[in-house]
Amino acid sequence: MQTFIVDGKDVNKIKEAAKALSCGQVVAFPTETVYGLGANAFDAKAVKNIFKLKGRPSDNPLIIHIADISDAEKIGKDIPGVFYRIAEKMWPGPLSMIVKKKECVPSVVSAGLDTVALRLPDKECAREFIRAAGCPVAAPSANISGTVSATKASYVYDDFKGKIEYIIDGGDCAVGIESTVIDITCEPPVILRPGGITKEDFADIGIEVSYHPGVMAEGEVEKPSSPGMKYKHYSPKCDVKLICGPYGICQDYILRNMQPGEGVLAFSEQKELCALSGAVELSSVKEPYVAAAKVFSQFRDADKRGLKALYLSSLPEKGMGVSYMNRVRKAAGKNIKHINKVMFVCTGNTCRSPIAEYLLKTAMPELSVCSAGIAASEGGMMSYSSEAILESYGIDTKGFRSTQLTRQNAYESDIIYTMTDEQKRTVLYYWPELADKVFTLDPKEDIRDPFMFGADAYEQVFNHILSNIRRISGNV
Ligand code: TXA
Ligand code: MG
Repeated sequence: MQTFIVDGKDVNKIKEAAKALSCGQVVAFPTETVYGLGANAFDAKAVKNIFKLKGRPSDNPLIIHIADISDAEKIGKDIPGVFYRIAEKMWPGPLSMIVKKKECVPSVVSAGLDTVALRLPDKECAREFIRAAGCPVAAPSANISGTVSATKASYVYDDFKGKIEYIIDGGDCAVGIESTVIDITCEPPVILRPGGITKEDFADIGIEVSYHPGVMAEGEVEKPSSPGMKYKHYSPKCDVKLICGPYGICQDYILRNMQPGEGVLAFSEQKELCALSGAVELSSVKEPYVAAAKVFSQFRDADKRGLKALYLSSLPEKGMGVSYMNRVRKAAGKNIKHINKVMFVCTGNTCRSPIAEYLLKTAMPELSVCSAGIAASEGGMMSYSSEAILESYGIDTKGFRSTQLTRQNAYESDIIYTMTDEQKRTVLYYWPELADKVFTLDPKEDIRDPFMFGADAYEQVFNHILSNIRRISGNV
């Protein structure tokens, strides 16, 4: 079969594709979230064909797309008042609402459930297409099951060329990740899949909703929020390595671990990463919706570039950050590194590593920070000069006691920064398996021991450490 990519601005082409859909064909069309692979929702045979084309498990229900709010009555029953309150404010838009389904909806669409997801997309040509078809359109995302949703017509073509006749080209999808799926059959409503509409957006219209625990879960979800959530999703062929923590530390971790043939999606604030050849700048950390809009196309691109792995950093989980994190967590699977606990190591744990510990604690109170020495006396005091210089910066060091580096505190740390290369080699001599998380604090030169060298030497070491703490805390 020949596959035609038709122009979404050409009304006649939309009508031609809509006719094919109403005659039982499967047609790909754009929405503001991702492209959909549509069929007449009342035509069980056509809908079955969607599952076959995608290789989609039959227990994963589809969303039904409509062009007008009033069409919801043809599909849903006992529709609660909250449905209309939400629809009036948020439709058309990137939101699918789950309601009880009418008998007339074939069970293949709802995968045997007695509920059905409804969505009124914001993309004008999507609504034109649905109207022209004259029927509600059941459509999952237009990608082979388990792979990355398509945000451009060419990606749909890559997956389905020769298998469907029409792909309506509506350009790049503005939202770039799928719709939010909310179950409104319960009170208060529960977000099963976060997407283009956030919990905060609901709060803004006076409706309190919660996230299903599966939304934030890592790895295999025990009780999936919706059937779709139990399947591996959104994954490019290359390994996605997700580093979770403050962006400066994530940047440093990635810089130290990235190998030739691997890529990185960096935030604008991660200037050193952005400067790497082959890095792609995603967005500012303050613009999670921009990151979300680009991340799927970057996943597809990573495979086109033949990357072995793609590094990504986390975003704070609020607003669209929740939706972004939900997708990248799924894509990463087990490849998730959390950086919550940082340890600094020097020789005696009295001069250098305590300075680093207190500076980072002050810069990033959200982290757990400690220090230890390779040959430390347990319970010793901080050197007088280190204490004095920290105190001159208003940093209180009361309660500090020196600690010996041990297997336990090394294993418990997510990153270990040593002051010198020799110290790093010593740590790795004991525990070579920790190679991915033991680094010299300054990647370029050793931070030398000021002990016995007087106040000037302490000042110099302090500034040397401070510039590196600023680098990793993003406070440059
Ligand atoms: O943005 C979108 O939602 C795109 C565009 C094309 O509309 N569609 C999309 O569909 O992402 P799909 O099939 O890839 O994802 C639909 C999700 C799945 O996780 C599915 O399990 C869930 O919605 N879902 C559908 N009906 C459901 C129901 N009755 N109960 C619970 N979850 C449901
Ligand atoms: Mg999908």
